[in-house]
Amino acid sequence: MGNINAVTDLAVEGNVGVITVDSPPVNALSADVRDGLSAAVGKAVADPAVEAIVLICAGRTFIAGADISEFGKPPRGASLHEVQATMENAPKPIVAAIHGTALGGGLEVALTCHYRVAVPSAKLGLPEVKLGLLPGAGGTQRLPRIVGAAKALDMVTSGTPIGAKAALDTGLVDDLAPEGELRAAAVAFAAKIVAEKRPLKKVRDLEVKGGSPELFAEFRKANARRFRGYEAPEANIKCIEAAATLPFDDGMKRERALFMELMSGVQSAAQRYVFFAERQAAKIPNLPDDSATRAIRKVGVIGAGTMGGGISMNFLSAGVPVTIVEMKQEPLDRGVGTIRRNYENSAAKGKLSAEGVARNMGLLTPSMSLEDLADCDLIIEAVFENMDIKKDVFGKLDKIAKPGAILASNTSYLNVDEIAAATARPQDVVGLHFFSPANVMRLLEVVRGAKTAPDVLATAMAVAKKIGKVAVVAGVCHGFIGNRMLSPRQREANKLILEGAMPWDVDRVLYDFGFPMGPFQMADLAGLDIGWSKETSKGETLRDRLCEMDRRGQKTGSGFYDYDEKRNRTPSPLVEKMILDFAAEKGVNRRPISDDEILERCVYPMINEGAKILDEGMAYRGSDIDIVWINGYGWPVYRGGPMFYGDTVGLQAVVDRLKQYQSTQGDDFAPSPLLERLAAEGGKLSQYSVK
Ligand code: 3HC
Ligand code: NAI
Repeated sequence: MGNINAVTDLAVEGNVGVITVDSPPVNALSADVRDGLSAAVGKAVADPAVEAIVLICAGRTFIAGADISEFGKPPRGASLHEVQATMENAPKPIVAAIHGTALGGGLEVALTCHYRVAVPSAKLGLPEVKLGLLPGAGGTQRLPRIVGAAKALDMVTSGTPIGAKAALDTGLVDDLAPEGELRAAAVAFAAKIVAEKRPLKKVRDLEVKGGSPELFAEFRKANARRFRGYEAPEANIKCIEAAATLPFDDGMKRERALFMELMSGVQSAAQRYVFFAERQAAKIPNLPDDSATRAIRKVGVIGAGTMGGGISMNFLSAGVPVTIVEMKQEPLDRGVGTIRRNYENSAAKGKLSAEGVARNMGLLTPSMSLEDLADCDLIIEAVFENMDIKKDVFGKLDKIAKPGAILASNTSYLNVDEIAAATARPQDVVGLHFFSPANVMRLLEVVRGAKTAPDVLATAMAVAKKIGKVAVVAGVCHGFIGNRMLSPRQREANKLILEGAMPWDVDRVLYDFGFPMGPFQMADLAGLDIGWSKETSKGETLRDRLCEMDRRGQKTGSGFYDYDEKRNRTPSPLVEKMILDFAAEKGVNRRPISDDEILERCVYPMINEGAKILDEGMAYRGSDIDIVWINGYGWPVYRGGPMFYGDTVGLQAVVDRLKQYQSTQGDDFAPSPLLERLAAEGGKLSQYSVK
């Protein structure tokens, strides 16, 4: 409790007034913090004993930004711009003392202070672009005045913070303070400013360096692909351009106008929703945040194939020893070799040191015996997707693993309860469904079996956090959340190319929607022969026929598309003819298919499937489903995920279109009862949670 208000305190040390903001968890600029700051600066300025002011925060961080939860609500208390004006125009120097993260509005407040001091571990940045926004409190006008236009462009469009040492080099901070001694160092710095009669440095008075028209043109060109579909990066660039070309006050007006535009748009609403959805996904209903977890000090991985290798890397990189088991030497050597090569590639790109490679590889123990997993706390099975093999593995594990060890399966589709039943300890069994490449993709589906113990679930969530994954809990059903929703999209994509579209039409529509690639490009990339064999192929599907012709995707130089040696793809006339012949054989009268129909038929059944998943309690919340699709399948974050997108379109409109397709395409399109109910009630899928 502070002496200014509930979250702000003013103390006087010698001739320095120290304002402390203490508003957990991250000192976001809520109305209370803004009011407190405003009053505290006023009081310090009015106190004749105070000659300089330090602004410092309690807890884990300096101000981490505007309070995102206030966005879209009626304004309360002093505006941030008013608080900043009070600070910047104060007649006494203000020193920001930074630890943790000075982000967004937090850094913008620091930029209206006259000096900045930080501990070496501090990070400073303007991450608004990640929320579909731009720094709306002068950040785009002040930052380039210190770090120059080029660096500012980089910082505002990436949203990535820089460390305190880099900030010192660019002039963003004036001095570094020893770790743990920030307050004393900042007070000493402030006293020195007074003693040396240093000027009240106002960032707004500086010139922007390096803002030539060529810089902006080149930056736009070089990043066009990265910014594809997003509105915020371009608005951020425009603001830096304004800083470079307009007087400060005009630049501020431009920033304000563009900020308001983004703030009222769908993209930012979607991205802000995703920010909270991601944090929400980590919470399991009826399981308190501080639930007991099991200690995971050593991990076992069974299978050193595509997934086993990537899964192992997650733990090795986090410093957790891994024993990896294969049945034969050759696949074991190959798997370990791939892990090493991946680390070496990272090292070649400068992302990992040579010692880092050695350290990670030193934590890996290859083995051909399941017995070597006896002392593991968590064992993850990633063998072939075959129930008999998985049951056999779990049956053996049951005899080997120590009591309390968590036994996990990386199965994509199989019934985790059936796998658990192969052991005498189903309470210790859980699904841990990683996404390929498992060392890269952020998503982890945690599959909760009927008997999975609460502490096993809690441990799985904690482990996910430790290895940098976003975990979402799913129930046991075919394909869990993600793959279950992928199925109807795939079904419709295949039907559409029979009825009249071409693979490249479907791919283009989904790419333009914002996916990194369409389903046929994806199939070519993954290989058309997954689950296909020459011996059993009957040429019944287009895919069978392509594989029979050895058009198995990128790896054979052709699939749905033709590829050149640089893997550039072109639509294949041969495939086009095959599709026409195939349709004729099946008696399908091809017709022109609009882009709208392609999009609706690929996406609306996914929304419908998501509603069924919620209705069956296979996901806790609509927002969890969105997190799965954004992090596992590249759903464009600016569309908020399939559930949020359904809400954006309007659930009644989705239901109406589904019914229309139902009349021509059959009951695959029958709307789920939950979807119909929410549409009728004006409810939202993205807000839906299972009680
Ligand atoms: N507003 C409101 N709540 C916030 C918040 C913010 N800016 N930042 C974090 N929180 C909340 C989180 O929702 C979470 O709440 P919960 O515990 O109830 O789930 C809690 O604080 C802790 O957050 P994290 O779990 O993310 O904690 P970490 O320690 O992992 O990370 C962080 C801390 C680096 C500060 C991270 O939270 C973060 O990146 N926050 C967002 C920073 C940001 O985007 N700032 C810009 C805001 S927009 C802005 O400033 C506009 C301005 O230009 C006008
Ligand atoms: P893979 O074929 O690349 O690797 C499987 C490995 O397991 C092989 O190296 C094989 O030799 C080994 N193996 C088989 N039986 C074994 C046993 N009894 N003991 C020890 N090792 C054994 O297969 P992949 O792609 O890695 O898939 C593994 C699992 O992960 C499957 O259940 C799959 O459904 C799932 N999965 C796959 C994804 C993908 O994109 N490939 C994505 C997510 C899950």
